[in-house]
Amino acid sequence: MPPRRPPLRPQTTTLWEYPSQQYGVGGQGSTAYRGATPAYVIWNLLERYTRPGDVVMDPFCGSGTTLDVARDLGRAGVGYDVHPTRDDIQHADARRLPQASESVDFVFADPPYGDNLNYGDDPRCIGQLPATDEAYFEALDAAFQECFRVLKNRRFMALYICDVHDKRRGFVPIGARCLALLMQYFNPIDHIAVVRHNRTLKQSNRHRAAEEGGFYLRGFNHLIIVKKQTD
Ligand SMILES: C[S@@+](CC[C@H](N)C(=O)[O-])C[C@H]1O[C@@H](n2cnc3c(N)ncnc32)[C@H](O)[C@@H]1O
Repeated sequence: MPPRRPPLRPQTTTLWEYPSQQYGVGGQGSTAYRGATPAYVIWNLLERYTRPGDVVMDPFCGSGTTLDVARDLGRAGVGYDVHPTRDDIQHADARRLPQASESVDFVFADPPYGDNLNYGDDPRCIGQLPATDEAYFEALDAAFQECFRVLKNRRFMALYICDVHDKRRGFVPIGARCLALLMQYFNPIDHIAVVRHNRTLKQSNRHRAAEEGGFYLRGFNHLIIVKKQTD
């Protein structure tokens, strides 16, 4: 049975939970795409931080969830990806975007969490870099600088990201590292925990491995909200 979807409501605390990837009519992104962002997360952000007609950009657009939520709310979506899955997603590296400086009203970014998923063969894919490798954080840093460049002053960016537990090296605090990277350029606005409902968490063998191996499965994603303020 598909998960029951509660009505969409603007969130007012720093703990967000919604049981499905899409929120209903029309469809947002693809439930078949591994690593799609829950659409209600983007809906809540656009409701709070944008107005109708605003330009919303996603530099890691994947199955296009951001573009669909932008459409639902009357915002103008612009999406980029090194593995574009649809015609309305432009082929570009998040570190070198063909987007004019200060032309965007809001940025939503859900980059790869190290090399946890295989997104494709493009050698520019950040998903080919393990989170234990500093090159991963250097790549994210370059993408964050690009987000800062294209965003208008006094406008917001949200980063949706998850920590990683590596078999050999243990915990990699991607969320904390990214907040520190973003704060080189942006002002911090808030930090939200989004409860995860992915398939991995439904498998009992994963829970057994976590118990026996003395580690935790990832139960939440970080949602980090920052603001560009140059005056
Ligand atoms: C977590 S997925 C994004 C999911 C998307 N928000 C959705 O709802 O479907 C990460 C995406 O980043 C893309 N990506 C990886 N490296 C990239 C790069 N250097 N520039 C642009 N996109 C990149 C991958 O191809 C993948 O589609």
